[in-house]
This record gives sequence, structure tokens and C-alpha cells, in this order.
Amino acid sequence: MKLVVVGGGSTYTPELADGFARLRDTLPVDELVLVDPDQERLDLVGGVAARIFARQGHPGTVSTGTDLDAHLDGASAVLLQLRIGGQAARHTDETVPLGCGCIGQETTGAGGLAKALRTVPTVLDIAERIAERAPDAWIVDFTNPVGIVTRALLDAGHRAVGLCNVAKGFQHTFGEWFGVDPERVELDHIGLNHLTWERGVRIGGVDMMPRILDEYGEALAARVRIPLELMRRHGVVPSYYLRFYYAHDAVLAEQLAEGSRAEQVAEIERQLFGLYADPALDTKPALLERRGGAYYSEAAISLVAGLLGDTGEAEGEVQVANVRNHGTMPFLADDAVIEVPCRIGADGAVPLPVAPVDPLQAGLIAHVSAYEELAVRAALHGGLGRVEDALLAHPLIGQTDTARRLAAELVAVNRDFLPWA
Ligand code: G6P
Ligand code: MN
Repeated sequence: MKLVVVGGGSTYTPELADGFARLRDTLPVDELVLVDPDQERLDLVGGVAARIFARQGHPGTVSTGTDLDAHLDGASAVLLQLRIGGQAARHTDETVPLGCGCIGQETTGAGGLAKALRTVPTVLDIAERIAERAPDAWIVDFTNPVGIVTRALLDAGHRAVGLCNVAKGFQHTFGEWFGVDPERVELDHIGLNHLTWERGVRIGGVDMMPRILDEYGEALAARVRIPLELMRRHGVVPSYYLRFYYAHDAVLAEQLAEGSRAEQVAEIERQLFGLYADPALDTKPALLERRGGAYYSEAAISLVAGLLGDTGEAEGEVQVANVRNHGTMPFLADDAVIEVPCRIGADGAVPLPVAPVDPLQAGLIAHVSAYEELAVRAALHGGLGRVEDALLAHPLIGQTDTARRLAAELVAVNRDFLPWA
């Protein structure tokens, strides 16, 4: 099986290589191809990935290349994990909004819109090339903002599924607390990418949510940084991305006092590349844990194995993924992209039915979903007015003066990445 990773020069890639080596029985990768415009990064990351395979006795090959078209033939799946403009552009996503009294975050709010504007056209171009050269390949999108990028891919007719590691992270945490394999932790996970709540946690048919909130509440509240009292009142666990909404002003004050995450990540990356240059390094370095991508290889492996029909399960495994709504949450458009548990099979990821959604969650989900629709429109067709409309539709912005100013500033700072600006 041939798997291509676009953005393969990412410092995250050793996490993927480690996952492919450990879980090779679930997903036997014969050829791992890392594609990236930056040859220097490819040399460093490709070297470590090959050494990780060799150390763990993985028989597959690792190769690298800068020309995507030359590497797509015969691919079964293509993972997208690219970042247009790198950490420098991310820094602007995280800092420009601050001047307008809005939080700066790479996927949520104004920064997420800027990232979408930069990213959607390139991802669609890549997907066209995949459709031409490897028409049967599945596209697995890790590229943020995953909800918006996946929606754009599906609107254009591609065989794509969006993926994030947040649900896997919860499965691991709960699995550790109760001493079971994370695969056995079934989440009632609802919402949109980076706007999700765990409403139930079943292990062996028993809902563990009451015990989680009762016995592990403090640990959980410290992890997601959401008041425990709110979680207990509603019996849900929000992801830490909800803090950008529920504690917007506190986050803004913190961000004004601290440097950006992009600056921190740039420093971690500098050190990681130093480690990757060591020809003796043949494991995933501990420093990688300071990045946010824990377990994303596991999410990718189980999803791709399911899509290629390799799981051996007659019915297909259940996994949280980003897919079309199609009535799953009746208060959203059918073509909205949602993040819920799905049955994964050769026909794709099919959302499982969800129980009615409480208005406290449904209101925010609907609000952000409408923003995402306008974000796709702005990214596809451009124009200051469309950017302004998307910002106006976002619950963290929503005022005309702020939307107009932010639209102008974000477009100006991203001009080199926007084909229409
Ligand atoms: C989490 C999110 C990812 C995001 C990452 C950022 O894993 O689910 O979508 O890319 O955090 O981590 P970073 O180390 O780049 O801040
Ligand atoms: Mn994510």
C-alpha cells in the first residue's frame, strides 16, 4: 500500500512514521512518500522516518520528493498536513486580531479565517492533481481549519474525510484512567472540528461520564480549562477549544501578555530539526510532545485502514471524523461538515445518528457552521466584502466595525498568499 503525505517535511512527521511502524498490522504501508516544497526539511525528516522504520523492523520504504505529480501514481491514500506560510503566517493569525480586541488563534475566529483563505485554494489544487493521477485514492485532511478545508474538498467533489486528534486524545485519557485500551472507549462526541463536546463515554456498554466528572473532574477541568461546575451541570466535557468562546476575554488578556504560540512552535521546530540532523536518532524524540499533535498517527492509521477495508470488521469500525451532516444534526444544512462518530468502510465515513443536541451546544454549532459556509465562499471567490461577511458571521467577532477593520488587515498581511488580492 502506497501512502503519500503532502506537507511531509513537517516536524510532526516522525509521529506518523512511528505510528506506521508500531501499527503496521493494522495498516501495512509498503511505500511512504513524503512530499514537500522544502527539500532541506524533507532530507531531515525523511532521514528520521526511514531510521524509525529500520529500527522497528518495518519492511516499507520511505522516499521524499518536491514534485507531487511525480509521486501520486498508485497511491491508495494521501494525507494532507500542510501549512501555507509556515509559522510566520501563523504568527500573524495569532497577533493581528489582538489589535481589534479579538483573540488570535490559528483555527478559531479571525485567525482561522485567515488560514482558510490562504489554504483552501492550494488544497483544492492539490486535490485536483490527486483526482487526475490517483483517482481512487482517499484524501485524509489534517490541514487546518479542518472543517472548512474538508467542506471545500467535498463541495468540489473529492473523496475526502477530515481528521483531528482531539477525540483520540480523550480516548487515551479516559482509557488510561480506567485501565482499558483507548480503542474500547466509545465517545458520544458532537459538534464541528475544534468546537466539540463529549456527551457520553462508554466502556463495555457502561456510561462512564458520571464517574469521570465525579472522580476525575479536577484533572479534566485543569486539562480543558473550562469550569468544572459547568461540565457537571450539563454532564458534558467540552474540548479546550471551547475556552476561546467561554473565556474569550481572559484568553485575550493572556495573549496580550504572552508571545504567540507560533513563536514558541518556531523555537521547538528549530530544536527538533537539530535533533533530526543526528544520524543516530531513530525514535520519535520526547521534545515532539511539546507540539499539539499527539496520537494523530493513530487517528490516521485507523481511518485509512477502515477506508481501504483492511480492518477485518464486517461492519466497519467507528471513529470520529469530519463528514457531511446529511441530517445528522437537523438544525444544520445537509452539506455542512460536522465532527461526529462515523462508521468507516470502503464507501467512506458515514455519520452515526446522534441524540438531540442541547440548545446550549446547538446554538453555537449552528452559528459557527454558518460562518464556515461563508468562510468557504470567501476562500473560493475572494473579495473584501466576503471576508467581512464571514467575520461578521463569527460569534467571536460579529460587529461591523471590527469585521471591516480585520478584513482589511488580514487581507493586507496575507496578500502574497491570496490569488485574488
Ligand atoms: C491540536 C489540534 C491540531 C493543531 C495542533 C496545534 O493537535 O487538534 O489541529 O494543529 O493542536 O499544535 P501546535 O503544536 O502546532 O500548536
Ligand atoms: Mn485538530
